[in-house]
Amino acid sequence: MKIGVLTGGGDCPGLNAVIRAVVRKGIFHYRDEFVGFLEGWRGLIEDKNTPLNLDSIAGILPRGGTILRTSRTNPSKRPDGVERCLKTIAAHKLDALVAIGGDDTLSVAQRLHEQGAKVVGVPKTIDNDLGGTDYTFGFDTACNIACEAIDRVHTTAEAHNRVMVVEVMGRDAGWIALYSGIAGGADVILIPERPFNIDKVAESLRQRHERGRYFSIVVVAEGAKFATDKGAPTVQDMGKDEFGHAKLGGIANTLAKEIEQRTGYETRAVVLGHIQRGGSPTAFDRVLATRYGLGAIDMVHRGEFGCMAALKSNRIVSVTLKEAISKNRVVDDEMIEIAAGLFQELSVKEVAVK
Ligand code: F6P
Repeated sequence: MKIGVLTGGGDCPGLNAVIRAVVRKGIFHYRDEFVGFLEGWRGLIEDKNTPLNLDSIAGILPRGGTILRTSRTNPSKRPDGVERCLKTIAAHKLDALVAIGGDDTLSVAQRLHEQGAKVVGVPKTIDNDLGGTDYTFGFDTACNIACEAIDRVHTTAEAHNRVMVVEVMGRDAGWIALYSGIAGGADVILIPERPFNIDKVAESLRQRHERGRYFSIVVVAEGAKFATDKGAPTVQDMGKDEFGHAKLGGIANTLAKEIEQRTGYETRAVVLGHIQRGGSPTAFDRVLATRYGLGAIDMVHRGEFGCMAALKSNRIVSVTLKEAISKNRVVDDEMIEIAAGLFQELSVKEVAVK
């Protein structure tokens, strides 16, 4: 078969491991031929391509980013974008296309599939919020980076009697905040799923300090919301990407000021941002990404188009792209209960507005 491969949306540690697995199994086991499309859907619209073979994938397993580069290009927002993608697929005589991306990239994959293209998806996002799968690769790496940052911030918070607010990524779902917050021993965890009452956050910190603790760690997801803001997250500016997403970020700074004002405790903010997306994937993510890649190439050869490789109960299975993009997989009540069980007063649950 001749197969196209692209990576779309925000990058994520493990993308190269997926590409490597797809190409190796495709060449070694199926005698496939590959072409890489550069910079996400832009590569298909403009036919920007590169050869993808055993030489081009050599040594990429531990590398972050993506050798195919990426972008948030949305063909539906470009003149004849979808038609141009279909034309490129036809021009290269592709038997299949493997699209590695999150809900935005995979929604385009679904659209192309509806127009007759033979597409298989692979789920990617550090946010871990894609439907149809238990885990996305990149999430574990992001959590480990965030956890290490929280550990480091801990010692300086302790030394200075400070409250430290650590902002992690997580647009619609608080998985990174919750996992890194639990792993890093945070005292308050704030997630997009539960708008929070700032007075309750301050009160929780006061109670902790009255118990004799003299520093605190607050972990907040970038998409968390003050209850008073009627569900609006903090944005860096009003500009939006081609999929309609505003640039989030900066809630930690506002939060730090509000906490200091209410409690009188010296408070500092740390925004981790893209550090969470950069660098080498963890061993867990390398293995998961490899399993996804192997699953995807097998799906291509079984003709399971319009589907995505997914992890369910630790098995790689095939789910429809439709299921994967139908809704975000947000933090569920059970997980919130687990986090809440750790705290006396300070928790995602107690400070949240019901
Ligand atoms: O989609 C994953 C994500 O990491 C979000 O958590 C974050 O809001 C966004 O990407 C940032 O994207 P960009 O790289 O375009 O700033």
